[in-house]
Order: sequence, then C-alpha cells, then structure tokens
Amino acid sequence: MEKKKRILTGDRTTGKLHLGHYVGSLSNRVRLQDEYDSFILLADIQALTTHFENPDLIRGSIYDVAIDNLSVGLDPEKITLVQQSQITAIAELTEIYSLLVTVNTLRHNPTIKSEAAAYGYNDLTIGFLGYPVSQTADITFCGAHLVPVGEDQRPHLELARKIVRRFNDLYGETLTEPEILLSDCPRLAGLDGNAKMGKSLGNAIYLSDDAATVEQKVRSAVTDPGRITAKDPGNPDICVVNRYHGVFNKAEHEEICASCRAGTIGCVACKKRLAAALNGMLDPIRERRAYYENHLDEVRQIIQAGSDKANREGNETMRRVKDAMRLSL
Ligand code: TRP
Repeated sequence: MEKKKRILTGDRTTGKLHLGHYVGSLSNRVRLQDEYDSFILLADIQALTTHFENPDLIRGSIYDVAIDNLSVGLDPEKITLVQQSQITAIAELTEIYSLLVTVNTLRHNPTIKSEAAAYGYNDLTIGFLGYPVSQTADITFCGAHLVPVGEDQRPHLELARKIVRRFNDLYGETLTEPEILLSDCPRLAGLDGNAKMGKSLGNAIYLSDDAATVEQKVRSAVTDPGRITAKDPGNPDICVVNRYHGVFNKAEHEEICASCRAGTIGCVACKKRLAAALNGMLDPIRERRAYYENHLDEVRQIIQAGSDKANREGNETMRRVKDAMRLSL
C-alpha cells in the first residue's frame, strides 16, 4: 500500500475554539483524516509568544484545544495529537532556520504586522517576531506535505516554503516543501457584523457553548438595519444571520432568503431556525466533549502518545538535517 501523505496543522492554545475555527480548519481536518496521516499540533510555545505572562491560561487551553479537536470528530486512533513544547526537533529546527531568515523579512510579514498592531506591540520580542520561523519547524519536523489553514496563515506558509527551498539549495534535498490548503469557506464574520469571529472581539460562538447560550448569542445578532417590523421585506444580502444560514443551514437557506425578501419570515423566527441548525450541528460535538471531559486521563494519554510518536519522527528528521549540514560526527 502506498504511504499516505502527511498533514500538519494546529492551533495556538490560548483558549477554546469557536465556529470560525470550525469552518476555517477543523472541518477540513475531519474530512481529510482518512486520506492523510494527520498531525494536529497543540501550539503551546507559539501561544506563549503573546501570552507568556499567563501560563495558567496556556496550560488549561492545552486540554481545551485537545478536547475541541477530538469532539469535532477527529479519531485518536487515526490522527496524532502533538504538544509542541515536547518536541525537541521543533526547538532545534527553529534555531537552524533562524540562520536563513532576516529580521526585515519577518518585520514585513503582514500577519505579524496586524497581530502586533492588535496586541499593541511596538517593540517585538524575538519570540513573537520569529514565531513564523518556529511554525516552519512545526511543519517540517514531520515532513508535512499539506497544511490546512485559514487565509491569515498564508504568509507563514510562504515563508516556510522559502526556508525549505533555501535549506535544500544550501545543504542538499532534505526537507519536504509544504503546500497550503485553504478552506473553501470564506472567513466567518462575527454575529455582531464584525468581519471576523474572534475570541478577543467577544463575538464568538464556541464549540463548547451549550444550546441556550447559542440561542442567546444568535438572538443578539445584528440583521438588516433597514427592516423595522417583521413584515417589512428584508435584504438577506447584507444580513450576517443569512450568511450563517448559507454556511450552517444549507438545506433551508434558499427558502429563508426568499421568505426574508418577501417579508414572510421575521428576524426572530429566522434566528430561531439558525440557532436550531447550529445546535443540531453542535449536539454530536457536545456529546463527544462530555465523554472526554469525563476522561481527562485518556486525553492526557492521547497527547502523550502522540507527542512520543512525533518526537521519534522529529529525531529522525534531525539526524538527516545534521547530516546535510555536516554536523554529524
Ligand atoms: N499560527 C496558527 C494559528 O494561529 C497555529 C499554528 C501553529 C499552526 N503552528 C502551526 C498552523 C503549524 C499550521 C501549521 O492558527
């Protein structure tokens, strides 16, 4: 049998994952878990680049993010869950790749720039400025072919490809050049109308929210501001609730659009149907979450077994990297 190609992707462990993560990356992971040998990284070191003052948050989030991944339907028998801080090859490769990347290249990285602005940083730590280099180590320590991520990660993937090519040019073909796999769903807007759903924006629906919380969050969503009474014809094209129907309630979307335009469905009823669709999707996720939350020791063992396997892969990669760089005795 031909060996499966490998995926590596992951999440910073800075809090629970939400619907934006689900449509942007998690659903792709679930879809691809049979076809690819998938490594899912709990990026705790990367999380510390912005949250180094809050190690307790990172620690709790390692479990939260692991459980989010397992509860959306990733099968621990198929995928490998990896704790970044345990993988020595990632630290070693980060140092080696740092030789091949200039400070100016990192300064011009658009994702670094917008994140630095969002956090209000003007004087950047080496760790924060360099996290895309460390992310290249994440991707290459296990020779990943494919990296399913959201659009905001594209600059990091381009850097990774550049570093790999530079390394291979200098020291001989050693590393695998990764491909990006973008979600076919555009970035999920917040229900408050913000272009992005985000934890820090306070507009996120979490995979771990219960049904009543989802209903309440959907109820407070902004809709077509031109619509005063339920009988006014609405404009679904400018309504974020409608956009969510298009993503999470495809079966009813067309009918709801038509009813909105005709003024035969009001915003309250439309939101109720969205909440029902979301809760229908989240129910099996909640069920799996309840299991894992009651079996934290099993979660710990899954992460530990995955990290041990990843270390074996990483050590093998380091052996080849050191040979290529003439560092082996
Ligand atoms: N930077 C990614 C994010 O913010 C998380 C991440 C860390 C990652 N290492 C990775 C994604 C390696 C893909 C591959 O979502």
